[in-house]
Amino acid sequence: MVFRLKERLGKKLEEEVQFFKCWQKDKKGVGALMPTSIHAARRMASVVNPHSGLPVLEIGAGTGVITRAILERGIKPHRLTSVEYSKDFYDGLVRRFPGVDFRLGNAFALEEILGERREKFDCVISAVPMLSFPMQQRLTLLEDLLARIPAGRPVIQITYGLLSPVLKMPDRYIVSHYDFVVRNVPPAQLWTYRRAV
Ligand SMILES: C[S@@+](CC[C@H](N)C(=O)[O-])C[C@H]1O[C@@H](n2cnc3c(N)ncnc32)[C@H](O)[C@@H]1O
Repeated sequence: MVFRLKERLGKKLEEEVQFFKCWQKDKKGVGALMPTSIHAARRMASVVNPHSGLPVLEIGAGTGVITRAILERGIKPHRLTSVEYSKDFYDGLVRRFPGVDFRLGNAFALEEILGERREKFDCVISAVPMLSFPMQQRLTLLEDLLARIPAGRPVIQITYGLLSPVLKMPDRYIVSHYDFVVRNVPPAQLWTYRRAV
């Protein structure tokens, strides 16, 4: 029991150190000082429907806190496709989560990363730091993500701003505030985006 606790704390520390090093290299690209908390990660993963039979798409996996929470929802590793831009994070993810379909690349160029794949995903879990990118790019990314999931299913996004990081466009998609997670450093807002059914 004590050994397990030590092992878990050791892993957490390792992830935090890795996160800090990546942040030092690319502050804008990483977009946060600390990994997402387990509380925020679990709230985000709670939108996954493990009974849909569809795979899940994660973007901006970083140290894999949210990856782990998605797997905990009962998604088989090979049914999770996860895109990460930083090679340092990517190498750690491949090592820590065997079987997950990790793709090294830019979530803003999903066509390149996912190729001809046409199977829909159940939902999208995004920790890409949207606020680091111009609004037009955020909108294009969101619409690309929404086209890859069934109408009515969510793209969930974590952000540290007060407002939705993507403009509200009621004629194109529905924006909802999902949660404000105080147990995260800094406290985080969760937003969902869906196409009307
Ligand atoms: C705020 S961090 C969160 C990561 C993760 N939730 C964690 O706690 O470790 C944002 C992540 O998005 C990744 N990222 C940034 N821009 C990206 C892009 N265009 N495509 C894919 N990933 C990107 C960063 O490399 C970083 O891993």
